[in-house]
Amino acid sequence: MRVAVTGSIATDHLMTFPGSFGEQLLADRLDRVSLSFLADDLEVRRGGVAANIAFGLGVLGLRPVLVGAVGADFEPYRIWLKDHGVDTDAVRVSESLHTARFVCTTDREQNQIATFYAGAMAEAREIDLREVLRRTGRLDLVLVSPDDPEAMIRHTRSCRELGIPFAADPSQQLARLDGDAVRELVDGARFLFTNEYESALLLEKTGWTEAEVLRRAATWVTTHGGAGVRIRGAGRAPLAVPAVPVPAVTDPTGVGDAFRAGFLAGTLWGVPERCAAQLGCAVAATALGHVGTQEYRLRREPLLDRIRATYGAGCTAALVTHLRGPA
Ligand SMILES: Nc1ncnc2c1ncn2[C@@H]1O[C@H](COP(=O)(O)OP(=O)(O)OP(=O)(O)O)[C@@H](O)[C@H]1O
Ligand SMILES: [Mg+2]
Repeated sequence: MRVAVTGSIATDHLMTFPGSFGEQLLADRLDRVSLSFLADDLEVRRGGVAANIAFGLGVLGLRPVLVGAVGADFEPYRIWLKDHGVDTDAVRVSESLHTARFVCTTDREQNQIATFYAGAMAEAREIDLREVLRRTGRLDLVLVSPDDPEAMIRHTRSCRELGIPFAADPSQQLARLDGDAVRELVDGARFLFTNEYESALLLEKTGWTEAEVLRRAATWVTTHGGAGVRIRGAGRAPLAVPAVPVPAVTDPTGVGDAFRAGFLAGTLWGVPERCAAQLGCAVAATALGHVGTQEYRLRREPLLDRIRATYGAGCTAALVTHLRGPA
């Protein structure tokens, strides 16, 4: 089973300033700000939605094809992803731009000053899925996750033209896409992923009712944070799957991406939808216990234990044959 994950690839550079931004900003000098904060801590975290999801699929033993655009600075990140089972050959390297970067400084009062540089991500629109398909031979599913908006539309159109099943995951980009773009991304999707907030935003942007969405997207998967996930489809009863409880949330960033990795892995293995959702929730719960979006590891037995403890043993037999790697 070959899956391509298209979308953003980025790094987060997070710094801490031990003082207070407010004390440095002079009210009568705001027309000529020239400030430099001496940060005492820098953390560089790997991220980007497509990279996070591909990482999760890679550690689950699939060999996902990552599709996105980066800069020449990508090499160390490429090695990391390859070491975790991701095929990075379809990643486009820009000749002039850097990999997308989120730079954020937080002061001691939790105020933040941040900048997001899209950089090479804008070149994702130059990527042709036909070439990716030619190289890989087949693609069973393409996930279209947040990216340069033109790239999202282009990949969706390519999938429709090539007859490749696709999953729409507009999440963070929903805010800046207009109704026409969102309708185009959803129309004909095998899966549609949103969180609770995004599901309402999607209805507002498209002007469609829930039934109208379900006429275009075969399966609509909505995550509800600690309340789990709800799966809907036309002409069927909705399926609700509770979350896997966690003792504490260490870092919620990327939990939606981790869920998608587990759910899609289960789906590609052909396990029942309920079991794919259980695996998604278990991967998400594991990710919640780690700082950063690609720092969790998935060991077979602890993962199955979590699933058994939350849902009973119904799905473990279906999943155990597919979960490879260390026990
Ligand atoms: N507090 C929690 N406890 C247990 N599981 C959780 C919790 N929060 C999230 N999850 C799991 O992760 C899934 C996705 O969560 P959520 O709906 O918050 O995604 P999201 O809003 O897209 O997150 P993000 O975009 O920040 O990654 C949920 O369906 C659930 O399985
Ligand atoms: Mg999300």
